[in-house]
Order: sequence, then structure tokens, then C-alpha cells
Amino acid sequence: MQTELDLFDPQSPQQPQWVGPHAVLLPGFALPQVEAMLPALRQVVASAPFRHMLTPGGLKMAVGLTNCGALGWVSDRQGYRYSPVDPLSNRPWPAMPEVLLDLAGHAAALAGFADFSPDACLVNCYRPGNRLSLHQDRDEQDFSQPIVSVSLGLPAVFLLGGHRRNEPTQRIGLRHGDVLVWGGEDRLRFHGVLPLKPGAHPVLGSLRINLTLRKAG
Ligand code: SIN
Ligand code: FE2
Repeated sequence: MQTELDLFDPQSPQQPQWVGPHAVLLPGFALPQVEAMLPALRQVVASAPFRHMLTPGGLKMAVGLTNCGALGWVSDRQGYRYSPVDPLSNRPWPAMPEVLLDLAGHAAALAGFADFSPDACLVNCYRPGNRLSLHQDRDEQDFSQPIVSVSLGLPAVFLLGGHRRNEPTQRIGLRHGDVLVWGGEDRLRFHGVLPLKPGAHPVLGSLRINLTLRKAG
């Protein structure tokens, strides 16, 4: 009988890595759910396709995005906000898949946030070269609730900064199946993503998908 942990088995659970007082990387935490997540995501994208929104300054965002859940994050010339309807279709966003609710609840609990019930999931789609500049997630009503981020596809380097834009950032590698939770005193830290390196992921090809689950309303 094999008793040692196989460190090269991607399914074997890895240790949580605390990257802040209330911020934790859960390597591979979503791997057991990926198979159930992918068809649910395909359904979301079929009714609310990825699109390139305009920043308030009028620039087209490089990262494609869509949402599921009762509220969706949108950006246009009027600013950033949450909306109960998809501006492309004027219909409600697709429902939040149960598998995502479950996963986010468990990940948040491991990070010390019991009873996390997200009502919004922003889905970002990165292609090689796409980056996300440093920003804070501050369009939500209640900053006592954490952000739960799930990464799929190509690996990326996530930058976790401080409470001011010019503070130093730490680099956190995010791979397929990794979950990152930040809340509490880390909730409003600046963060971003370095330009995605070209590559081919066996499941998602040359894409990175990131889901961030939030309690927005
Ligand atoms: C975000 O900050 O909204 C996305 C972060 C990521 O893509 O890892
Ligand atoms: Fe963010």
C-alpha cells in the first residue's frame, strides 16, 4: 500500500499558502470540480457571451468578460457597477451554477469566512498577451465578504499589492484549478495579472478563464 503523498500527482491536495493575514492560495482546490464546472460555464457563455466592455475612459478592455448570478459587473462610459441584467440582451444574467456556489462556500470557509453566499460571478477570459492592471474590487456593498477567485486554463502571475497602488506587489502563480481567497483586512488590496504567456493548456487551449465570486448586493 502506498502511504506517501505523491507530490507529482496533480490531484493530490496541496497545502494552503497564506499570502496575507486573510488571503490564502488553495492550490488545486477546484480540480475535483472542473469536470462539472466546464459544461456549466459553457452554458453561461452560450446565453451571455464574452464581450469587450468599454472603460469609463472609453478604452476597450482586452480581457473578455461575462457574468452569472443575480448581479453582474459591468463597465461603460458611465462607470463601473453591478447590474441585474446583461446589457447585451437586456435579460437577467444566467443563474449561478450550483457547483460554483458550493466550491466558493467551501473555499471561503477554509479561509475563515463562514456562510459566504455570493450573488455575482465575474468570468474573465484572457488570451496570451492580455493583462489586468492593478485595481481594487470596491464596487460591492459589503467589504466584510471575501472574494473567491478560481483559475482555469493557462497559468498566470497574479500580483497582490497593498492598500495603495504604489506599494510593492507579491507575485502569486495561479494554475488550472487553483483557488485564491482574499477578505478581511486583505479585501481591498490592489491586485492585477501580468501579461499572459502564450501556451496551450490541455483542457482550455490558449485561454485562461478566471472566475471571481463576490457578494455584490
Ligand atoms: C480580477 O481581479 O477580477 C481577476 C483576477 C484574475 O484574473 O486572477
Ligand atoms: Fe479584481
